[in-house]
Amino acid sequence: MPGLEETTEIRREEDLVQKIQGSDSTNVVHTTLQTDERVIARVTDGIYRQPASALRELINNAYDADATRVVIKTDAPRFERISVEDDGHGMTPASLAHMLLHIGGSAKRQEVGQRLGITNSADPLVSPDGRKLIGKIGIGIFSVAQLTHTFQIVTKVKGDKFRTIATVALKQYSDDAIKSDDSSDQYESGKVNIWREKAKDVGVHGTTIILTNIRPQARDTLRSREIWSAIEQSENTAVVDEHQAIEPPKYHIGRVDASGELLKKIKGKTSNIPWQGSDKPDEAFKKLVECVWDELQNFNPNPQLDKIFDYYLQMVWQLSLAIPLTYVDGNIFDMDLVGWAEAFKIANEPKGGASTLKLKSKVSVREILGLKEGAIEDKFEVFFDDLKLFRPIKFKGLPTPNHSIKNPMVFLGKCREEFEKYSVDLSGGPLEFEAYLFWTPKVAPTEHRGSLIRINGSSGTLFDSSFMRYQVSEQTRLRQITCEIFIQQGFDSALNIDRESFNYAHPHSVFLTRWLHSALRQLATAQKRVASDIRGQNRDEQKSQDLNAIQKIAFELWQEEVEDEDSTPPTVIIEDEGPQQKLIPNADLAFNRAVIVPRKDGYRTAKGDVRSSLLDEKLKAIVQVLSTFGLLDGLSKSKQERLLRAIYKILETA
Ligand SMILES: Nc1ncnc2c1ncn2[C@@H]1O[C@H](COP(=O)(O)OP(=O)(O)OP(=O)(O)O)[C@@H](O)[C@H]1O
Ligand SMILES: [Mg+2]
Repeated sequence: MPGLEETTEIRREEDLVQKIQGSDSTNVVHTTLQTDERVIARVTDGIYRQPASALRELINNAYDADATRVVIKTDAPRFERISVEDDGHGMTPASLAHMLLHIGGSAKRQEVGQRLGITNSADPLVSPDGRKLIGKIGIGIFSVAQLTHTFQIVTKVKGDKFRTIATVALKQYSDDAIKSDDSSDQYESGKVNIWREKAKDVGVHGTTIILTNIRPQARDTLRSREIWSAIEQSENTAVVDEHQAIEPPKYHIGRVDASGELLKKIKGKTSNIPWQGSDKPDEAFKKLVECVWDELQNFNPNPQLDKIFDYYLQMVWQLSLAIPLTYVDGNIFDMDLVGWAEAFKIANEPKGGASTLKLKSKVSVREILGLKEGAIEDKFEVFFDDLKLFRPIKFKGLPTPNHSIKNPMVFLGKCREEFEKYSVDLSGGPLEFEAYLFWTPKVAPTEHRGSLIRINGSSGTLFDSSFMRYQVSEQTRLRQITCEIFIQQGFDSALNIDRESFNYAHPHSVFLTRWLHSALRQLATAQKRVASDIRGQNRDEQKSQDLNAIQKIAFELWQEEVEDEDSTPPTVIIEDEGPQQKLIPNADLAFNRAVIVPRKDGYRTAKGDVRSSLLDEKLKAIVQVLSTFGLLDGLSKSKQERLLRAIYKILETA
């Protein structure tokens, strides 16, 4: 028997459903968002911090509604308005009413969800068409609060002659407002106007969320204001000292002036994006991914997204990693690795070792190991302005600079733990997952070094470069690994409500952490074994390339510091001419001599030539020493050049 309060609550909801049914644009229903808990009321005011988180949540909702296509449109680079349109099932007046009156009380994974048609009638854990649901709490949609306080929901279900429109004005809390609101146990989170409009096409279904009046702070973030104002300031002082100039991000969508109207030119262009306006959305996205890998060829050994991209491009990238998408060049599980990668199976026993996987051509590792993740083709396409999003992770055809192992090594695993010794309340039930650890000499961008956990395809955490706090000092090897863990069952209860962090003490986290650390140990052992085999084969070769005394210093330091005897320090070249440098393969760092070496007038002597080639050798070794400690990575090319010029001058001084 429901209590008195509950019955009023139910009546209120039924009442609202009826009112919505009878509404039109002249007869608008007014209601308020209500929550039972003060803490949940505050959710609308900011547990999600990044614009990407809000978009991630809206896309996750479209996914849960069985959408096959989501279209996000922004008015970049101005960012006054953002819309997210999907072709999912839409919301009936009853689902909408439930959503508005139960913030924090999701209908997903509940019986009520089955009644409302939000979940599958046979299983409340999956969507009507059978997707494993991402949503569980009932707050995700309010993540838009950090972008705007006013938004509109336009939604329609198939067969309905009307579409339902709701405009939401979220309440902005001050601490006082919360305190004075003590008259009831209900907390008001905002005001909503709802009406119904006749639809042209009865068969259409889907939901569009329109965010307007983007908050100034969020707009500034989206406009990369921090980056641009720092550059502007340095430009102003640059009149006095050009060396202080901060480099703009290599790729950006453009910069508006303070009025938000005028596009400003940067290096003679209003924007610099890696794709062309005429590119198809999927080609455009491929170019975005390619430009990051190209950095390696452009002598940037550690391409960092937050150095080469403005905020918008970083956000697109982050979003592509977070949502359930297919991979830009295909899923590693579906690839035939013959001829370009080595594959290993991770043992689940604590002291086990990785075993070499016998590969066959035209047979995927999915078939060999019976991997389930991503096996069912499920069309879910997401478009973001010019781009069609994919997981921006590449496996095939990657560069392998200065390392004796030329092929990537792929470690695959799957595991299920029943937690039989614990009660379900304590353990959260069984845990099941699949994973790959992809080792390659160079992982780009640097943000992909680490492990990422996906639950039902979605992740809010991005790559964890500590690999769940792995305490072993194999820093170099860890920087060469991208790992994704796909949860198939469990772990959900270990995830915090913003989906952006999880509870390390939860039995599922403890188990997964132990598994991952064991997998890393297995990877290290196998990788050392392969490397030593290759060393054996190459022994004669290596002897022949004997190093001079200067080179030896840099080489030996690298081996000591980097603790990876199969890699060598980056190759450095000092070239006479600029552009064709790019044609030299396997050079990691290249500098233009004319920029670094002060021009000498007068005739050159043979003695002078010997001396300058010795200086070259010394300078190259110094560059290697600096990059051994990662000291060049944070510097722009022009700063690197100025540093080398100064060092050269010192070396040159008699
Ligand atoms: N694009 C959409 N299509 C259909 N229904 C939607 C859509 N967006 C939201 N909803 C409805 O609104 C409800 C609230 O969404 P919200 O994201 O706040 O919570 P949730 O997805 O249930 O859980 P979580 O907080 O874990 O995301 C959903 O349960 C769903 O019924
Ligand atoms: Mg949600």
